[in-house]
Amino acid sequence: MKALLLCGGEGTRLRPFTHTQPKALLPIGYQPILFYILDALAETAIREVVIIIGPNGTPIRALLQQTNPWGFKFTFISQPEPLGLAHTVLLARAALGDDSFLMYLGDNILAEPLRPLIDRFTQEQPDALLLLREVKNPRDFGVAQVDGARVRQVEEKPEQPRSNLALVGIYLFSPTIHHAVSKIKPSRRGELEITDAIQQLIVEGKNVAYHRITGWWKDTGTFTDLLATNQYLLKKATPAQYGTVKKTPINGVLALGKGSSLKNCLVKGPVCIGAGCRINGSVLGPYLSVGDGVEITNCSLSRSVVFAHAQLKGVTLINSILGERVEISSAHRKEEPFSLLVGADSILRF
Ligand code: G1P
Repeated sequence: MKALLLCGGEGTRLRPFTHTQPKALLPIGYQPILFYILDALAETAIREVVIIIGPNGTPIRALLQQTNPWGFKFTFISQPEPLGLAHTVLLARAALGDDSFLMYLGDNILAEPLRPLIDRFTQEQPDALLLLREVKNPRDFGVAQVDGARVRQVEEKPEQPRSNLALVGIYLFSPTIHHAVSKIKPSRRGELEITDAIQQLIVEGKNVAYHRITGWWKDTGTFTDLLATNQYLLKKATPAQYGTVKKTPINGVLALGKGSSLKNCLVKGPVCIGAGCRINGSVLGPYLSVGDGVEITNCSLSRSVVFAHAQLKGVTLINSILGERVEISSAHRKEEPFSLLVGADSILRF
């Protein structure tokens, strides 16, 4: 089995951060989103990963050509325009060959391990195995109607959902999906929808099975999702201290990267800090993720993500995302926390 990993989306809802890097590379928790997915795939027998990248995807290719601790064989395919999820299956047709494949939308993070799903797919050999999860807002997702062990109908973001079972962005397909994809036409929004290809399988009487997940899952499409995912991932972080800590009480988990120093701070874990950071006189956490080379002085930061090489002085922030190299400084620190979303290279002084 191969994996088809979709990282071609523009991530428009996550601008300004996706102006400067693809969504899959946004560093959340302790590493880029993409790495959690590759970690999960590495626990399966999958060794070949076909990655779809969009016009902003060059950094993904460059990073994975440099860093591949998983030992995957990567094939990169460009999708110049966002023509739909099923369109990526068309693009990857030759690379996937006649193998079954696990299609993974590069912004989904799932708590459940993938291996048991692949084992079930291999044993039962359905034409497709979908992952479904009950949600409160089914209109925002592909929605499935089930009957016994089979999926009876799927619809993409219906106005009047017939169930509250959302399609998780992780699908297992046999090669019969290629025929189904060749039959469908672009939807109202001009995209070849994978949901339509799955519906085509159902109409043709193929076996579309499902697995209901109950555990944690996020499609990290919005800022709120990103911050919730950050908290979820930080809860799983383990303590690691490669830096120096002076006069700093530590509560909860702290992961501190090489060459980083903490002085006169208070840590309320979980907190993950990258390498080469200098942090003084600040209250850190809970749920704080800090990239490499960041400088923080006289701040209080919680439930936030600070990207690499940011410089922060005298601010009290909560639920914030601060892009690479931002410079934020305040001459009069307020105790009342506020929330900021600031794109790369911005400078804020107040
Ligand atoms: C896509 C799919 C949708 C699925 C969702 C899960 O939607 O089209 O069927 O439920 O992913 O993440 P998107 O997030 O691209 O709007």
